[in-house]
Amino acid sequence: MTFEEYYSAFKTYSDVHSEEYRRRIENLEPLLMKFMTKKGRVLDLGCGAGGFSFLLEDLGFTVIGADNSDYMLSLARGFAKEKGSKVEFIKADAKELPFEDDSFDYVLFIDNLVHFEPLDLGKAFREIARVLKPGGRLLLQFTDLRALLPVLMNGQVVGAEYWISKVLPDREEKTVLIEFQSEEKSFRVRFNVWGKTAVELLTKLYFRKIGEEQINEHTYLQVYEPKK
Ligand SMILES: C[S@@+](CC[C@H](N)C(=O)[O-])C[C@H]1O[C@@H](n2cnc3c(N)ncnc32)[C@H](O)[C@@H]1O
Repeated sequence: MTFEEYYSAFKTYSDVHSEEYRRRIENLEPLLMKFMTKKGRVLDLGCGAGGFSFLLEDLGFTVIGADNSDYMLSLARGFAKEKGSKVEFIKADAKELPFEDDSFDYVLFIDNLVHFEPLDLGKAFREIARVLKPGGRLLLQFTDLRALLPVLMNGQVVGAEYWISKVLPDREEKTVLIEFQSEEKSFRVRFNVWGKTAVELLTKLYFRKIGEEQINEHTYLQVYEPKK
């Protein structure tokens, strides 16, 4: 099972018009606006289907969306066309960004950590710090999967259609294989397990934390400025 198949199964990531996606935007918008007080250039990194890029464009920011998945970019470009959006969606790997130093006021990094092994996340944070202007801000939203693991292992319905049928962490709990089940099919996806403490240790190499909001029991928005 590829991540593309996983995302296409969950509207919360693949359909910006769905109730699930809209709810994510509604929850995060007021928190983002607390820290994005002046307009400027935004990089929505790991933009997926582009919902947060469109939100910020509508609010008057200049937005570039970047993702390394052709599938997610095709969804984003489709929604952009439908909306008449001017957001430019480009293919880029967070570990090696095709942008000049000091070129963005904000970088959004929303719900992406599960894709990154520790070395790769270190590279991505270094790149984000490089492309941010001095005094620019990283808006990092993530779920503390380490804290959530025991909850998931008890079995929990995740959506209208799918529920979690197996949770299989590796011995060191660095990754977890999760099996999703619906009436018709089941599939497994491997995620990297990031806990809040590990995220904070890694960000410390490149950033100063300037704010934090708790979105729900295990999900946070943290705001950072690059150390430069
Ligand atoms: C859970 S989705 C979140 C998408 C979007 N931020 C949102 O909240 O709807 C994670 C996204 O990160 C992208 N991604 C994963 N690894 C990446 C990398 N190395 N560089 C850029 N994007 C990446 C995936 O393709 C996917 O679109």
